[in-house]
Amino acid sequence: MRIGVLCSGGDAPGMNACLRAVVRSALSTGHQVVGIYRGYQGLLDEDFFISADGQPTMNARSVSDLSKLGGTILRSSRSEAFRAPHGQARAAAILRKHAIDALIPIGGDGTFRGAADLIKHWSGLIVGCPGTIDNDLVGTDYTIGFATAVQTGVEALDKLRDTAESHERMFLVEVMGRHSGYIALYTALAGGAEIACLPETPTDVAQIIGQLHALKEHGKKSIMIVIAEGDEHGGAAVLERDLVAAGSPFSMRVVTLGHLQRGGSPAPADRILATTLGDFAVRSILQGRTGVMAGQIGGQLVLTPFEETFGKHKPVPAGLVALLESMAT
Ligand code: F6P
Repeated sequence: MRIGVLCSGGDAPGMNACLRAVVRSALSTGHQVVGIYRGYQGLLDEDFFISADGQPTMNARSVSDLSKLGGTILRSSRSEAFRAPHGQARAAAILRKHAIDALIPIGGDGTFRGAADLIKHWSGLIVGCPGTIDNDLVGTDYTIGFATAVQTGVEALDKLRDTAESHERMFLVEVMGRHSGYIALYTALAGGAEIACLPETPTDVAQIIGQLHALKEHGKKSIMIVIAEGDEHGGAAVLERDLVAAGSPFSMRVVTLGHLQRGGSPAPADRILATTLGDFAVRSILQGRTGVMAGQIGGQLVLTPFEETFGKHKPVPAGLVALLESMAT
């Protein structure tokens, strides 16, 4: 069998570890792997990985030492051309032309939306791996890259707390997460932030001001507020404006972490998840499974239909939202 592999959408730390697992797992069971550059756009451009020995397939050495490497050596993109049905039909024709029997897309909701569309034009097997820092996909407890993104956020919070304490200030730290508060909530909880503003919970400026006054009265010298970029109130800049206007008892600074969270060497948890799911995706394909994402729920490996993974966003754990609130006293 010839298995194609690509990375699509926002890159995530651990995508390389996942690619390594796909290649090693396929080779060890006697199958070939075709690396496709730049996601679905690279597929449309027939932009394939050529290994050092000149072959259009990946070998064990093509993925040497990859577990520790951030980003993705296959590179990634979001393809406009692939979104249209005629783009998907052309991609299917290219897969047939190169005798590719199966595909493993590594990415997030947009990637699996694309995979679900591609299946309408192609009879090959598709099993995806969840590679996104957002951790917003139904069908897996954690996505590849989330642990590293949170680690980066927590390291930033720890450093900002030092300067916040020195200057008796408040920091508004904006983290990634267009539709999901997972990164913000986990970063806030692990980093000891007082408040997290999430898309899933209402952000009430008057209530935050009341909380800030109470914290000041209780002797708090510094405050950390973590804001998901997709918070319904707006990002950190909007919140800063509104808190100043409402009479914040703390002076404040805004820090946007943004793409910093997408880079860096993957945390061990991401490497292990990526390796586990890359191997599971290959084994699932060899069992004839298709139209599903490989995931892990409660320690069990599970396959979830693509449509369910992106149909709705995974809710943030209500218990952790309450825990954060009870810690900030
Ligand atoms: O989906 C992953 C993600 O990093 C989101 O958290 C963020 O909103 C988005 O991608 C940013 O995308 P881009 O790299 O196109 O700016």
